Amino acid sequence: MTTVIKGGTIVTADLTYKADVKIDGGKIIEIGPNLVGDTTLDATGCYVMPGGIDPHVHLEMPFMGTYSADDFESGTRAALAGGTTMVVDFCLPEPGQSLLDALKRWDNKATRANCDYSFHMSVTWWGEQVFNEMKAVVAHHGINTFKHFMAYKGALMVNDDEMFASFSRCAELGALPLVHAENGDVVAAMQTKLMDEGNNGPEAHAYSRPASVEGEATNRAIIIADMAGVPLYVVHTSCEQAHEAIRRARQNGMRVYGEPLIQHLTLDESEYFNKDWDHSARRVMSPPFRSKQHQDSLWAGLASGSLQVVATDHCAFTTDQKRTGLGDFRKIPNGTGGLEDRLPMLWMHGVATGRITMNEFVAVTSTNIAKILNIYPRKGAILVGADADIVVLDPNRSKTISAKSQQSAIDYNVFEGKEVTGLPRYTLTRGVVAIEDGAIRTQEGHGQFVKREPYPAVNKALSTWKELTSPRKVERSGIPASGV
Ligand code: URP
Ligand code: ZN
Ligand code: ZN
Ligand code: ZN
Repeated sequence: MTTVIKGGTIVTADLTYKADVKIDGGKIIEIGPNLVGDTTLDATGCYVMPGGIDPHVHLEMPFMGTYSADDFESGTRAALAGGTTMVVDFCLPEPGQSLLDALKRWDNKATRANCDYSFHMSVTWWGEQVFNEMKAVVAHHGINTFKHFMAYKGALMVNDDEMFASFSRCAELGALPLVHAENGDVVAAMQTKLMDEGNNGPEAHAYSRPASVEGEATNRAIIIADMAGVPLYVVHTSCEQAHEAIRRARQNGMRVYGEPLIQHLTLDESEYFNKDWDHSARRVMSPPFRSKQHQDSLWAGLASGSLQVVATDHCAFTTDQKRTGLGDFRKIPNGTGGLEDRLPMLWMHGVATGRITMNEFVAVTSTNIAKILNIYPRKGAILVGADADIVVLDPNRSKTISAKSQQSAIDYNVFEGKEVTGLPRYTLTRGVVAIEDGAIRTQEGHGQFVKREPYPAVNKALSTWKELTSPRKVERSGIPASGV
């Protein structure tokens, strides 16, 4: 059975042109004019784009004494409803736990996924076992990215020596380290001080994590990666200080990538000053929302290419879960949702405002991360041979974002009341229509794990350069006799 997406305009990261797309067996088999298939999807007036890839989600994440409320079923259903066709979650070994045992748990959870998925492995502790298992994770388990938390002291945080060891191991394995960059020691000290002063509301969460603690940690991670001779991917880049560090590193020839979130691009710090405790607590995440100046910096980074990816860090907690932190902001589970809203919000606030082009929209929601994760052009492309993970975006379709009509399992939406124009007419996951004119036709368990090979190009270039410039003993002939 073949399907043809007919009459639309194909928009990729580098081209915009009119053509039909023919699909068979979950793959794109032909692109051109006047194609015929067993089923036809009408894309008149629409843009046919690679489905979104969200490289940063936490589904059913064990965190801060609870689990994030969206699991792989509701999370990937929300993703597809918003035009995202692949998600990458973070496998989180407990301290002392085998990476491979943790991976079994994640494999189990993800069997319910409605769309394709992959995992990053988190390095939450360090030892010989982790060093050894990292090799198996890359070689046998199709995972080429390792996440490091520089924050969450006493829980997920790793120190500089552990990070340097792990980054060096990534360099050997052809893997890419990721960092959550905030200075966890300084955050912990500031949290204690704020609580001692009676500052216990959600606004204190933002006060305890100013832009400078993110800028410092981003710069530190960049320098450590450079010393280890490995590229670096900085997750949830939220402020000018962090962006500046990334920009400077790139100008100096380092391979550093930055990932702003749709939340940081469109919501600001005033959310934490709302008189309603629930309103503010629901928006508690790390890093916190920032000022308009920081937002302008992130938008400029996307337009100029110094920042490459827009993600969500989807980590949804219910109002009841957030209320664990009544009287102590440190206990409010950190995280916000966004999977269903990333593409429409970015289209509305990015493309419709002229801050980015349609092609840049595709680049930052799909193609760039497919290249960084080494799954391009299977994902992130409208090309013959690519997976038919496609969003047919109708630029005239509108809605008002509301928790009442969302797919996510939680009872609110941080974008509640926002008008968006530019929504999927169809979302296809490996050729299967999952979303059709707002109707949900997702299939639990349809999603497959996407294996990712180690990096052939960037790591090779860096290790070649590292080898060329590494310290060498100078061989001398005329050595003077000692004790002259
Ligand atoms: O607040 C956040 N971002 N929660 C999810 C975990 C993380 O730090 O990414
Ligand atoms: Zn294995
Ligand atoms: Zn994080
Ligand atoms: Zn995260």
